[in-house]
Amino acid sequence: MKWIPKKPWRQKTGPVARKRAGGADSVQDTGTQKTLERILSKAGAGSRTQARSWIHAGQVEVNGKVIQNPDLWVDFKRDRILLDGKPLTKRRHIYILLYKPTGYITTFKDPEGRPTVYDLIKEIDQFVSPVGRLDLDTSGLLIMTNDTQFAERLTNPDHTVPKTYLLKCSTLLSDDALEQLRIGVELSDGPTRPADVRRVRDSGKYTHLEMTITEGRNRQVRRMLEAVGSKVLKLVRTQIGTVTFGDVKIGQWRELEPEELASLISPPAVNRARKQVQTTSFPTPTQT
Ligand code: URA
Repeated sequence: MKWIPKKPWRQKTGPVARKRAGGADSVQDTGTQKTLERILSKAGAGSRTQARSWIHAGQVEVNGKVIQNPDLWVDFKRDRILLDGKPLTKRRHIYILLYKPTGYITTFKDPEGRPTVYDLIKEIDQFVSPVGRLDLDTSGLLIMTNDTQFAERLTNPDHTVPKTYLLKCSTLLSDDALEQLRIGVELSDGPTRPADVRRVRDSGKYTHLEMTITEGRNRQVRRMLEAVGSKVLKLVRTQIGTVTFGDVKIGQWRELEPEELASLISPPAVNRARKQVQTTSFPTPTQT
């Protein structure tokens, strides 16, 4: 007889045979069946890579048995999952707003050993992930959370939370160039959506702009500027939806206020969401 490998979701962890969970995608909702790796990361214990390494290292037990298969389907509600001998309890969702300085990367680990945003949030005892990314040389607002559903929703291309940037361009830009940016420019991964673009000032050889976009493509603002023959010399994200810095200083973080969170989940129309940035220069302190 031919050996047919079992699909991971066909493996059972308890006496009751389980079928795949359909639809809901969170341990908090009705879909409580997930792979072990996903259950661990969704419960806020760590990233999926970390979860895999704990499972492989034999640190995870399901119903009294050490399980070393990260792809095993388990049920968060019915199975007793222990990490290092402790129950995997549901953790409080936390949403933080970090004022990222330049020089920090937005990943958990850097093979080159550069500082990461996690160096700035050491006092947070839950594993939070960045919602989208900021480049190494971009500073400004970065939301981090352990609520994977919220993060997935915010980064979904159909969920158009406007993000506002202040940028210093390497050249003076004409009104035509600004209009091109507004209408949309052609990038290697397709045309950009219409953007709000405001000339903040021209100083010497440089134009300073404020730009609001509703997409989060890789290095999008930098590529948009290249598409109109300029370059970004300095980039700061100053606003996400209606969320601004508030009291947070560079390199520091604060929790999002409930109303800020609510506004991100159901954003108002783009134009209303966009508050005029009062300053005509980059935010202080100037380590950007
Ligand atoms: N656009 C970019 O080009 N870089 C960022 O970090 C954010 C938006």
